[in-house]
Amino acid sequence: MSTDLHYETHVFVCVNERAPDHPRSCCSARGSADLRDYMKDRAKELKIPNIRVNSAGCLERCELGPTMVIYPDGVWYHFQSRNDIDEILARHIIGGERVERLMLEPGQIFPKPKVHEVLTLTVNSVTPLTDLISRFELVDPDGGELPSFDAGAHVDVFTKTGLRRSYSLANDPAERDRYVLGVLREDNGGGSRWMHGDVSAGMELSVSPPRNNFPLVGNAAKHTLIAGGVGIAPLLAMGHALRRGDTEYTLHYCAKSAEEAVFKEDVTDVFGDRVVWYFDGGDPAKGIDLEAVLKSPAKNEHLYICGPAGLLKAARENASHWPAGSVHFELFAPSANTQEWQNEAFKISLSRHKKILTVPVDKSILEVVREAGLDVESSCENGICNTCRTGLLGGTAEHRDEVLSDQEKADQSVIMICTSRAKKGETLILDL
Ligand code: FES
Ligand code: FES
Repeated sequence: MSTDLHYETHVFVCVNERAPDHPRSCCSARGSADLRDYMKDRAKELKIPNIRVNSAGCLERCELGPTMVIYPDGVWYHFQSRNDIDEILARHIIGGERVERLMLEPGQIFPKPKVHEVLTLTVNSVTPLTDLISRFELVDPDGGELPSFDAGAHVDVFTKTGLRRSYSLANDPAERDRYVLGVLREDNGGGSRWMHGDVSAGMELSVSPPRNNFPLVGNAAKHTLIAGGVGIAPLLAMGHALRRGDTEYTLHYCAKSAEEAVFKEDVTDVFGDRVVWYFDGGDPAKGIDLEAVLKSPAKNEHLYICGPAGLLKAARENASHWPAGSVHFELFAPSANTQEWQNEAFKISLSRHKKILTVPVDKSILEVVREAGLDVESSCENGICNTCRTGLLGGTAEHRDEVLSDQEKADQSVIMICTSRAKKGETLILDL
């Protein structure tokens, strides 16, 4: 290409930094400096000729950040991840195309409303496994492939009564033709009561694509899995994945009795002699000897726990000496938390929408944000499912959820807006 320009491609990446309490926040707080470095390195590695990637001050489109503009094309992008940068390099800079999904429109001021993807699936079968737990198999209505998932993933079911409830996928992640869920009917669970009472084979269900808040750690030297009751579901999917690898793993599975051990045959098939069974008759003292099992973690061993709140609490307490980041768990219901929280009113800044709002004592951040007209996803609204996870760009939160790790809570860079609030006297700057 012949050009009179000094650089054929000149990229300006905003790395402007504002004070942490600034209501607009900035591209740096949203990770732009690391991504600029990544872009520079990748451009070099790809040997892209005559390109310059420069740091820029505020490009005055902060609500859409992180932002970059590419000249001489004059194309603006919003980017958030290394994948976004890779796509901009491959398609725009090398391929001469446009990456429409990341492009900012001329005159655009605020982010576009999110499009929530929903799948319509057919219930292929409903099979009672115990008095309280049933197995639901969902398939594509036309027999097509379903979106892939990794072990530990869940889908959200949208009930016809207006609820959204998360259920773990229990089948082999290599299967693309079905999702298998195990659903426990809980007396106070509107979602599970609807699933048990109103859903039957042949019905259509609205379901979110799979998401994973409970993934296996790829480079672990050993995996220990602890399941109670229907908590076996995501761990069964993990068993499918683990048996294809060569990492050591063991499942400890506790149920009231052999008859009430859900997915018993699948567990036997998948785990073989790597499962240790416990039938406690409802007496936790006769269940898994957590002290012995969790006493001495091996180097780079990871622990995954899923089951009733009591088992989860006991397992986490017994693993409190495990290295940070090595204990992973998934909750179905909030644990019987004895902590008394005192609500106070505080301010939030919706940094992408130029709004400063007050959260009164009797409302959650989620409610206030919705009242302001933002479409924000939620499911449990109890701080256990991770759906309402929101970037925290400034201010100090009082984390009341049970889903963030201790490290994430200490980092103060995300918040569960259904339950958590600001620490006394703090204003929270949200990535909304
Ligand atoms: S801080 Fe990046 S556009 Fe303003
Ligand atoms: S909606 Fe589940 S953690 Fe907030």
